Amino acid sequence: MSEKIYPVPEDWKNARVDEATYRALYERSMKDPDGFWAEQAQRIEWISPFTTVKRSSFDTHNVSIKWFEDGTTNVAMNCIDRHLPERANQTAIIWEGDDPSVSKHITYGELHDHVCRFANVLKKHGVKKGDRVTIYLPMIPEAAYAMLACARIGAIHSVVFGGFSPEALAGRIEDAQSDVIVTADEGLRGGRRVALKANVDAALEKVEAKSVIVVTRTGAEIDWVPGRDFRYEEEAASVHADCPYAEMGAEDPLFILYTSGSTGKPKGVLHTTGGYLVYTSLTHELVFDYRPGEVYWCTADVGWVTGHSYILYGPLANGATTLMFEGVPNYPSVSRFWDVIDKHGVNIFYTAPTAIRALMAAGEEPVKKSSRKSLRLLGSVGEPINPEAWEWYHRVVGEDRCPIVDTWWQTETGGILIAPLPGATALKPGSATRPLFGVFPEIVDSAGDVLEGACEGNLVIADSWPGQVRTVFGDQERFVQTYFSTYSGKYFTGDGARRDADGYYWITGRVDDVINVSGHRLGTAEIESALVAHEKVSEAAVVGYPHDLKGQGIYAYVTLMEGAHPTEHLRKELVKWVREEIGPIATPDVIQFAPGLPKTRSGKIMRRILRKIAEGEFGSLGDTSTLAEPGVVEELVRGRPAT
Ligand code: WT7
Repeated sequence: MSEKIYPVPEDWKNARVDEATYRALYERSMKDPDGFWAEQAQRIEWISPFTTVKRSSFDTHNVSIKWFEDGTTNVAMNCIDRHLPERANQTAIIWEGDDPSVSKHITYGELHDHVCRFANVLKKHGVKKGDRVTIYLPMIPEAAYAMLACARIGAIHSVVFGGFSPEALAGRIEDAQSDVIVTADEGLRGGRRVALKANVDAALEKVEAKSVIVVTRTGAEIDWVPGRDFRYEEEAASVHADCPYAEMGAEDPLFILYTSGSTGKPKGVLHTTGGYLVYTSLTHELVFDYRPGEVYWCTADVGWVTGHSYILYGPLANGATTLMFEGVPNYPSVSRFWDVIDKHGVNIFYTAPTAIRALMAAGEEPVKKSSRKSLRLLGSVGEPINPEAWEWYHRVVGEDRCPIVDTWWQTETGGILIAPLPGATALKPGSATRPLFGVFPEIVDSAGDVLEGACEGNLVIADSWPGQVRTVFGDQERFVQTYFSTYSGKYFTGDGARRDADGYYWITGRVDDVINVSGHRLGTAEIESALVAHEKVSEAAVVGYPHDLKGQGIYAYVTLMEGAHPTEHLRKELVKWVREEIGPIATPDVIQFAPGLPKTRSGKIMRRILRKIAEGEFGSLGDTSTLAEPGVVEELVRGRPAT
């Protein structure tokens, strides 16, 4: 593979961290982790100081992760109150509406007032420390207010992405045992309305909740359950304007975020208070070289971890101006991102490869119509970025002057673990480059042996970092099983990776039964169980396959019940069915009706073969002689629809 290298540009050599500093600090974080992190932890304000730094064990029999354990603090205080003496009139959040003529600036002072009121509304509805609040909102400032309000009073938020179906929402409400739901009448994306409140109503036919607090976004007419449903605006007018922040232990939970794994239902990844805030604040400042006064824009949705860590918590902890965008990249035109950059003078822009590929397909002209002269740094997250998309992003969007930080991390890692530091790291398109301070990645082979030097295998992390997931909500056993049992004593990421001779990491993608569709993580098992819940489906197997825009597409093999017929009508019905069961992000791209699935004699589905067929690689199906019915494979190859 030819490797193009982009050295650190001259004018970036005065960034916060240069190469010598990177090496020195990395070394320090390795030799004296407690000293390093005790120092870094001073970047946030503590109510009562901690005396222990790290107490963690990845031992399968005794997994336990604790940082700054006896310290106390409050995340909302750190993200708001702490900045007020200096920044009460500085913009905290720039909100850009779906409609390009609608935007507003919210100062730190205003953020304080909104969050206090929201917190008091939650209190009025009985929310106490440790209670779970489900937030199912579009990208409006109230999403930030609601999250910070939970943090202020010590409630645990569980944000559910607005694109999830009532079914998926109900599962998350139930698992979190959440009595209070915050939603909006409707969302607005790309000019289209999203029926959020109606989805909540449908979810609450399956599970119970005491209060639904409804923010008015479009003013649409919605169904109303008296005694259960409350208008946020009316509630906010009736509560006190100030709300003291709660003193929280460093290890008190901050939020739960559901994410897909290779088996079963989505897991409630639990993050806590002190370590998470130290980690997101540090990484936001270093990876994006954030400087006071700059405008920073991360295009993610707050329904995903990227929105939690790098729209809200990291930037606000740093007193930054963070942009929150309600809309989509192609509305009203494919110039929207670049128009917003010019409109608000964005300096740092962080988006996903899937968006870059889609915009690249629209050509250079829509980009070149804009100036983008404010841009200084570009970021990428969510999936491996192919070198072509990287080069285009660098040359066309960044005009060869903006470094690109390709940031590798996961819902479970809380913050970025592997990424370039723009003033220190020469870039290689497609590589997330090197680990950040205090992050110790290793590559292991399938036997769990640690590989040295240039190599390829599975990516594990050898020791804890402050932003790490602490448990799976309500299921410590599943937590241990999922992350610490595959390679004993190490955190298993589920990703494959290659390390080159310069020590750079190249993430090769998931090695488990998780697929990454447009930067969104989906468990194949989840889609399969949605399919088999349909009365005509007997069996289903779902695999990922390479997709030009989405990175991976969803390919489903379906066998039908006796008497059901594989028609085009049924195919459409199944696609619609999965969208209703999980949400539009899980829409299957291909459904292949199959007379049978390839299985071993013990009945295990041979996914390796199904992946190859989906990829169209019929020549390398490998050994099929151990199959119970070898003929099945030929039928699948013959029946493969064009993709
Ligand atoms: C999975 C985590 C990280 C926040 C958004 C996704 C893939 C993420 C990169 C990257 C290659 C990446 C991995 C990871 N991934 N960033 N820069 N290069 N792959 O969070 O939904 O928890 O998904 O996304 O496969 O395991 P997530």
